[in-house]
Amino acid sequence: MIAIAIAVLVALAFLVLFTTSRRRDTGRLSAETRRKDKSDSPFLADAPEQVRGKDYERQVTLARTTPGTDVAVPAETAVTPYVPVDPETLGVTRRQFFNRSIVAMFGLGLSGFGAAVLAFLWPGLSGGFGSKITVGKVDDVMQAINDAKQPFYYSAGRLYISPFPKDGIPKAKKAYSAAVLPGMESGLVALYQKCVHLGCRVPFCPTSQWFECGCHGSQYNRVGEKKGGPAPRGLDRFPVEVSGGSISVNTGIVIQGPPIGVNTTGQEAEGPHCVGGGHH
Ligand code: FES
Repeated sequence: MIAIAIAVLVALAFLVLFTTSRRRDTGRLSAETRRKDKSDSPFLADAPEQVRGKDYERQVTLARTTPGTDVAVPAETAVTPYVPVDPETLGVTRRQFFNRSIVAMFGLGLSGFGAAVLAFLWPGLSGGFGSKITVGKVDDVMQAINDAKQPFYYSAGRLYISPFPKDGIPKAKKAYSAAVLPGMESGLVALYQKCVHLGCRVPFCPTSQWFECGCHGSQYNRVGEKKGGPAPRGLDRFPVEVSGGSISVNTGIVIQGPPIGVNTTGQEAEGPHCVGGGHH
C-alpha cells in the first residue's frame, strides 16, 4: 500500500516537472509580431535592397514573353552565423516567472499531501495507536490501579491495563497464546477497549468490578473474560512487555479474546452491575 502510494506520487511529480519544464513559450512569435518585424524593423533598415521571390518570378515570366528583358540577379547573401543567446541577456520572461511559481506552489502542495499520506499510512511513525507504545512505569500504573480500584485506562492506546493474579497462571497457560502469556506472567494484561460484540467502547463498572458494555450489555471480568451478554468471546488484547520497570504494549497486534467459558481468575461480580439491571 505504502509502496503504491509512493510510486503514484513520484510519477505525478515527474509528470508535472516534464510538462512544465518544456519551454513552449519561446521560438514561436505571434503573427502580429512577425508582421511588425517585417514592416519596420530598425535592424533591416540599411540592409541592401533584396529582390523578393515574387518579383523575381514576375521578371522571369516577363523575360520569357518579352525577349530583351533583363532578369535581375539577386545579390549573394552571407549566412549570418548563429550565436546562441546568452540566457542572462534573455532573462526570465513574465510567463516563465508565472510558470515557475505555479510549479513551485504545486510542488509544495503535492509534497505536503504526500507527507500527510505517508503519515497516515505509517502509524508507527506517529507513536500512537497501531504502534508499540510505552504506557508508563509499572509502579506508577499499579499505584493508580490500587488507588482508583479499577484498571488503568490509557486513551492513546485505546486500552486498559489490568492486573492479572499469579494464581491464575496455570489455567492461563492452557487457555492463552504465547503472545499474551509473558505479560500475564509479569502480572498484567492489556485489554482493547473495543467491545467484541459490535465495537462500542467498554467502560469498567466500579461496583461489579467487571467491564460492562452499555450498548447491549456484554460483560467481561477484570481480565477481559466473557461473563454475560451477546459478546462472542472475551475482550481482545495486545502483547505486553515489562522491561526496565516500564510497561510497553504493542497495539499493532490485536490478539483475539479467549473463547466463552475461559475463566482463569474465577472472579465473580463484586457488587451491583452497571448494565442489564442485574444485581449480585
Ligand atoms: S457492542 Fe458491546 S454489547 Fe454490543
